[in-house]
Amino acid sequence: MSDTKRASKGRILSGMRPTGKLHLGNYVGALRNWVNLQDDYECYFFIADWHALTTDYADTRMVKQNSLEVILDYLAAGLDPERSTLFIQSHVPQHAELHLLFSMVTPLGWLERVPSYKEQKENLKDKDLGTYGFLGYPLLQSADILIYQGNFVPVGEDQVPHVELTREVARRFNQFYPRKLRPGCRDPHREYVFPEPQPLLTPAAKLPGTDGRKMSKSYGNTILMSEPEASMRQKLKTMVTDSARIRRSDAGEPDKCPVGDLHKIFSTKETMAKVYEGCRSAGIGCIECKSWAADGLWQVLGPMQERRQKYEANPKLAWDVLEEGSAKARAVAEATMVEARDAANLSHEYEPPAQSAGEGK
Ligand code: TRP
Ligand code: SF4
Repeated sequence: MSDTKRASKGRILSGMRPTGKLHLGNYVGALRNWVNLQDDYECYFFIADWHALTTDYADTRMVKQNSLEVILDYLAAGLDPERSTLFIQSHVPQHAELHLLFSMVTPLGWLERVPSYKEQKENLKDKDLGTYGFLGYPLLQSADILIYQGNFVPVGEDQVPHVELTREVARRFNQFYPRKLRPGCRDPHREYVFPEPQPLLTPAAKLPGTDGRKMSKSYGNTILMSEPEASMRQKLKTMVTDSARIRRSDAGEPDKCPVGDLHKIFSTKETMAKVYEGCRSAGIGCIECKSWAADGLWQVLGPMQERRQKYEANPKLAWDVLEEGSAKARAVAEATMVEARDAANLSHEYEPPAQSAGEGK
């Protein structure tokens, strides 16, 4: 699809904090969806490295390495630098400038009542999160979104309050600082600098980890997108199953089995039918069933790991993708900042002193 046609559906922006190698939960919960959106929208996908510092400021040694891991996984998943702008947040300083302008107009109460603020502070007790940066986390996210005048933000349920805040911040900025319409400016009919973005909820497929709980790095139950085939198969072998199926001769229920959940995401209809039939009749064993699940999973992981090879062999290539994307992002972000500064009377242009009444004609 041509660029102009894609642009007509609107702009999409989303990002992830660089937490290291991504796993199937990240893929199914976000990346897979992003890859599909590339066909229809003008897409910006980034690595939120500054956001990593809001909780991990005390030790930043892994940030760069982790960012590199994430771009490898983005590219492996099929995010395509020819179609999407892939970049890294800290290389686009305009995000920080807009965050600062937003901080001027954002009431503290708006940030204190964001649900993730209190929850995370409770959950991450070993870190001192009584910092300015941590409170500002969702406001930085608002700047990430609005600096591209983004229309849609594909996120999971947990991020919806952040998009809501973004809408409120956009409205507040627009009210204080309506857009200045100059002769010859881009789309002269737009009254405000910032559109109000909508969340695009990613359909939440249930993706259990090897222990049956939600797949999550902190539980140590993940299968990586870059998991080698042999170790992926090994992990599946140890995966928990329907606990009611104790002996081979017991019937089981795929709808109550984490392996069944994997099948639903990765297996074909035919395999699915064999699983339902064989499990409920005790006609198949769990070992066989798991090997089918592994086959289905490898149908997805295999091609991803093939795409990944050329970048893994030469990680500089992946970094270059980020550099190029960041340059493109800076140009777009700067165009928004020109409007935002101008609206807030901070334009960089020389303006002659206003003439006092009575002087001149
Ligand atoms: N807060 C998001 C998360 O934890 C990451 C993020 C940062 C983001 N900035 C964003 C997501 C802008 C969407 C849009 O997953
Ligand atoms: Fe789960 Fe498959 Fe075993 Fe049934 S046969 S309990 S679906 S692993």
